[in-house]
Amino acid sequence: MPKDNAGRLVQGKVSPRLAVPSHIVRPEYVGKPAPAKFTGSDVKTPEQIEKIRAAGKIAASAIEMLRNEIRPGVTTDFLDRLAHDFVLDHGAYPSTLGYRGYPKSICSSINEVICHGIPDDTVLENGDIVNIDITAYLDGFHGDLNHTIEVGEVSEEVHNLVERTREALNRGLLAVAPGRQVNTIGLAIENYAKRFNYGVVRDFTGHGVGEAFHSGLIIPHYDSAPNYATEIEVGMVFTIEPMLTLGSYQWDMWSDGWTVVTKDRSITAQFEHTIAVTETGYDILTLP
Ligand code: MF3
Ligand code: CO
Ligand code: CO
Repeated sequence: MPKDNAGRLVQGKVSPRLAVPSHIVRPEYVGKPAPAKFTGSDVKTPEQIEKIRAAGKIAASAIEMLRNEIRPGVTTDFLDRLAHDFVLDHGAYPSTLGYRGYPKSICSSINEVICHGIPDDTVLENGDIVNIDITAYLDGFHGDLNHTIEVGEVSEEVHNLVERTREALNRGLLAVAPGRQVNTIGLAIENYAKRFNYGVVRDFTGHGVGEAFHSGLIIPHYDSAPNYATEIEVGMVFTIEPMLTLGSYQWDMWSDGWTVVTKDRSITAQFEHTIAVTETGYDILTLP
């Protein structure tokens, strides 16, 4: 069920939607086809930044909790249920649940899945990698991050991809400074990834985040100059979330309308943080 004869992932069975107690405050988009258009600023006040940090801390702690549960034999549905309960127990709402109709509280993207994998009855196997993407909504603000985690013992080629994708996010972070254009971030990421001949995914990007899950501000992970010339300002809050592949950056979408896989079915990894821009660089808002 989880993989076909060629070892490629296929859709599993998605469990019924999990409940959210009525005292948990939901984002405005839940139960609607799409979020309201965000008309506010990507530059946040110090008070707003602390609210994003509080949400981000819950999401990051949920990932740390899941890290100890990820092993061969567990399903992504099980991980979703653990994360769902963890986020609710901390008084927050799991932002992906009901976002544009997305049915689960995390994204779980295995091997050739670039992003937006839906938790289901797929069983993790030794040698897989799985990206866990969690966003928490607390007190009116979202904090969004993801990590790729190795399942058991993975090949050296795949381990290197994971570690270099982590470093690619770091290179993107180090490129952040007020006065630069946002396209500087992707230039740093792509230059690093090029050394290893990795594909750099272009059509899924970082984004402004705060009162809105996706504000409209776009942060590419490839060299997009002279486009995406928005000036980085102190107090801006956005994600950086590079997706690198062992093959090309082309993708296909499954018929579920969410799961994005590499067209060549090459293995792919991703890391994400939400950051606030400071006078000298960045402040990570998604730490446990
Ligand atoms: N958390 C993802 C991001 O990094 C967005 C997931 S949207 C979903 O932007 F609907 F797919 F869950
Ligand atoms: Co994001
Ligand atoms: Co995310």
